[in-house]
Amino acid sequence: MSFLSQTGDINSPDRFSQEKRLQIECLLDNTIEAIDDGKDVISGLSKSQKSLPPRYFYDSRGSQLFEQICQLPEYYPTRTEAKILKQYALEIAKLTGACELIELGSGSSTKTRLLLDAYQSLNYPLLYCPIDVSGSILKESACQLLADYPQLQIHGLVSTYEQALTNLRPSSLPHKMVLFLGSTLGNFNPTECDRAFTQIVTALDEGDYFLLGIDLQKPKHILETAYNDSQGVTAAFNLNILQHLNWRFQGNFDPNLFAHRAFYNSTQAQIEMHLVCQQAHSVSLDALDLRVNFEQEETILTEISRKFDLQQIQDYLLVNNLKPLKMWTDPRQWFGVLLSQVQFDEQI
Ligand code: AVI
Repeated sequence: MSFLSQTGDINSPDRFSQEKRLQIECLLDNTIEAIDDGKDVISGLSKSQKSLPPRYFYDSRGSQLFEQICQLPEYYPTRTEAKILKQYALEIAKLTGACELIELGSGSSTKTRLLLDAYQSLNYPLLYCPIDVSGSILKESACQLLADYPQLQIHGLVSTYEQALTNLRPSSLPHKMVLFLGSTLGNFNPTECDRAFTQIVTALDEGDYFLLGIDLQKPKHILETAYNDSQGVTAAFNLNILQHLNWRFQGNFDPNLFAHRAFYNSTQAQIEMHLVCQQAHSVSLDALDLRVNFEQEETILTEISRKFDLQQIQDYLLVNNLKPLKMWTDPRQWFGVLLSQVQFDEQI
């Protein structure tokens, strides 16, 4: 499905020009059923360590709660990454030259603006391909961007990362740059990471760029505070996954019978978020024909958030045919932004 979107104020003189600069393609079509058939819920809840796929956090309330998390005083990653991008966006733009920006999980595209400002200040053509599973968020932020950047052209993809990366159009600019910000990579286990890197590199050509934002290892108490905020927003975000499952799969989870727990597993270098069952009971998910028994104190692992080491991630980029060009961090070295370039040459 492809459509030209209506943008901005209907009476605005540049509404027509905005329409010409926006194209949003939906690749999800019927596959939403395939993605949401609940097989991953059944398998996760059938294991001895029960788990749920973290993508079920993001219904509309979950997405709102995540936006709130990003503003919390304890949750440093969003603002630290934004500061790094603000400081070094011009350097990034100078290193890459004109290139099409392709963003995985673009959301509200807030941090992307820092890059667009830099490319605009160098008078480079602005081409942006936001990729997100939420068509409404993608369209809303695209309209705002078009209003604020008169030279910008947007070709958005409403799709999963995987679908988008196999459907990228050739760019009219010399290069493309995939943006994977916000340390979303940290929510992938090593197998999922390998798969994502293979897909990214396969979608790019020699000389194209990859900009990665990752959260770094740091003292345990700072990490644990970031995932146990004093206002309880992260707890609400974690518990909301149960409401989402109730709605999606006709379930009867009672969120009052679970409690939020987040801790740093230093052996695995990852925050783990769990929901801890407060008393033994059973839950049904009728649409999945599933009944699950919970013991008191038994937990559901809802998310891992891996924390990286800069050397380790550079080595990882290299083995995936991505040559690290430069990395930037904040004075406390809490967050890293790495620019790498696709190079299939055996020398790397
Ligand atoms: C989206 N992701 C990078 C966040 C993280 O920090 O792992 C999700 C999150 N979970 C709890 N707080 C934030």
